[in-house]
Amino acid sequence: MAALRGGGVIGLPTETVYGLAADASSDTAVRRVFALKGRPADHPVIVHLACAAEIDAWASSVPEVARQLADAFWPGPLTLILPRAAHVSDVVTGGQSTVGLRVPSHPVARRVLAAFGGALAAPSANRFGRVSPTCAAHVVAEFGDEVPIVLDGGDCEIGIESTIVEVTERGARILRPGRLSAADLAAVIGSEPAGAGECSPRVPGSLRAHYAPRTPVKLVPREVLRLRDPAAHDDSRLVTLGPLPRGARGVALGDNPREYARGLYAALRCLDGEGASRILVEAPPETAEWVAVRDRLQRAAAGSGVDDERN
Ligand code: TXA
Ligand code: MG
Repeated sequence: MAALRGGGVIGLPTETVYGLAADASSDTAVRRVFALKGRPADHPVIVHLACAAEIDAWASSVPEVARQLADAFWPGPLTLILPRAAHVSDVVTGGQSTVGLRVPSHPVARRVLAAFGGALAAPSANRFGRVSPTCAAHVVAEFGDEVPIVLDGGDCEIGIESTIVEVTERGARILRPGRLSAADLAAVIGSEPAGAGECSPRVPGSLRAHYAPRTPVKLVPREVLRLRDPAAHDDSRLVTLGPLPRGARGVALGDNPREYARGLYAALRCLDGEGASRILVEAPPETAEWVAVRDRLQRAAAGSGVDDERN
């Protein structure tokens, strides 16, 4: 707590991924987070609140739809993009007129927020463009001594980042898919959010090269994996929905989209550390329940292997 009060940055578990948390009311503290991540200043960070009642302190207006969503899903993996209150700093919002707000449900995050008594700006605890961390060891591996305090809240239950929903008087729009699907939101607000699945260029998560390991990642159909000759000289690693083909190395994440999401980033980090020439990922089905996972896989594939290309 002293670290946060003094403008420091800590590694904080949430139910989605680990965050790098700092006092959202201190520009100096939030700038430290940007510097640690190597994140461009125009990419806004999410403000984490202790409870839904704080929404009015951070948003200048809260449409009814936003209240319904907050009531239904907070604490939980939902970020609401709303018009920012006057005091919210440009450092937090990247100069935009809106602010991203979320009440996390992880018990450690909740305890820290309650004890801190203020809001915490917390992007995912990875270097800009890299794979988000889903356990404390990932954060330590990413930042080492640069972030001396990392609270260990175990493995993240969800494993991919929150669903981001922009709400205006005109309605709701999904900017980043996550565990909460368009159908989950529709069940609360009565209609499917507009533009579900599309991404706003304002959301850095919507950059093609995001969530990316250094090893090239390729999405391939199951048949391609099955046809690979295990005896052929090939040091690829596989990520599969079904069992790993005989003789192949990699991770079988299974065909349950929630469990798959939970294990995805740890699998990518682990395989990325094995020095293989590429990671072949069995493409998940193009169904609604796989939208968020497919989104992250496509970005991982688009952004991976950047270091190799530079060399
Ligand atoms: O699950 C999560 O959301 C995690 C945990 C730590 O809470 N946080 C997270 O933060 O994923 P970050 O910074 O890695 O991604 C937040 C995304 C970024 O793409 C950012 O641009 C977008 O939220 N965002 C934040 N404020 C925004 C705003 N005012 N308008 C549009 N996008 C915004
Ligand atoms: Mg991130």
